Amino acid sequence: MTPLDKGLYDSVSAAFSKRFGQSPALVVRAPGRVNLIGEHTDYNDGFVLPCAIGPSTMVAASRRDDNAVHIVAVDFDNAVDQFDLTGPVGRNAEQPWADYVRGMIMALQNDGHALTGANIAIAGNLPKGAGLSSSASLEVAVGKAMLALANIEIDHTRLAQLAQIAECDFVGTKCGIMDQLISAQGKPGHALLIDCRSLELMDAPVPDDVAIMIVHSGVTRGLVDGHYNERRRQCEAAAGAMGVAALRDANLDMLAAAGLNAVTTARARHVITENQRTLDAAAALAKNDLTALGVLMAQSHASMRDDFEITVPAIDELVEMLQNAIGPVGGARMTGGGFGGACVAVMPAARVASVRAAISAGYKTPEDAAPLIMVERPGPGVAIL
Ligand code: GLA
Repeated sequence: MTPLDKGLYDSVSAAFSKRFGQSPALVVRAPGRVNLIGEHTDYNDGFVLPCAIGPSTMVAASRRDDNAVHIVAVDFDNAVDQFDLTGPVGRNAEQPWADYVRGMIMALQNDGHALTGANIAIAGNLPKGAGLSSSASLEVAVGKAMLALANIEIDHTRLAQLAQIAECDFVGTKCGIMDQLISAQGKPGHALLIDCRSLELMDAPVPDDVAIMIVHSGVTRGLVDGHYNERRRQCEAAAGAMGVAALRDANLDMLAAAGLNAVTTARARHVITENQRTLDAAAALAKNDLTALGVLMAQSHASMRDDFEITVPAIDELVEMLQNAIGPVGGARMTGGGFGGACVAVMPAARVASVRAAISAGYKTPEDAAPLIMVERPGPGVAIL
């Protein structure tokens, strides 16, 4: 266990024992993720290139003899939630975090899994609202824990699909599959090139001398983001107008011929070009060509800023600062759903110290503080510890 995992393991286990008066039967860890490139492509049946990271959500759990689920959330001041598996289970209006747990458990039951009552403690060390998938990791961890308590094993891609259903249908964010899938299937030392139509996972090794840096802008996003669903609707409208199942199937010639309005055209142009950039980035990474990768990341960021309009000025400033500090070998872009959150940068490991120093000194969050900087290597997906 890494020191980071050990600290979280101890805190979730202690919270469980304090609340329920016994040690947990199991502890599950599901990681957050950073997406290297391929943004808002997943729900367009396209390609993404994420990797799992060190910070995670942990769920400590034990069976109960009844049908109740009792939950304590360490990161929300030990707030509690409680409901009955025999339902009906609605949303918890006061505690949005609880909906990810409720939604996941409902999705498992609706898929036919016979669950048992459970006591659950939850703790995480992912910054919330940073676009690093704290909610997906919560869903995946809860799903894995509930299934394990009932002695049920399912394929981790299926687990991710059920987590996505929880988020889309119960919580109401019409997200794609990327976050849940990489949290479930992450692989140490590797990013995964994911075909979000076939759900094929292709290994993209990250060379040992390459560092992945994540810098949180300090601008936080809402949990259920209206802008996100709006972007998805615009993409679906564009695909429909071009007569294709998804923007994955469109190209720039088709877009030019379609005569869509300027905004819809720009949204579709982002997705069409981003899909190609993602494939090209995976090829560049395979050749350890960080210069080419950096160019693609810069183009991705410009496309998110100008065509998809999901960046904010603080993020644009941070990306520019990162790129200047990195130089031509490597790159930076916003990562995740947008409207704030974190930036990802890829660079030779030897450059980490100077880039860190430049960003710590140069960038200030909206609260006028130095930003949170994490240097990561790709880690494993969900597991029982
Ligand atoms: C969020 C969603 C993902 C994906 C990204 C943008 O993280 O949960 O499904 O759409 O935004 O790439």
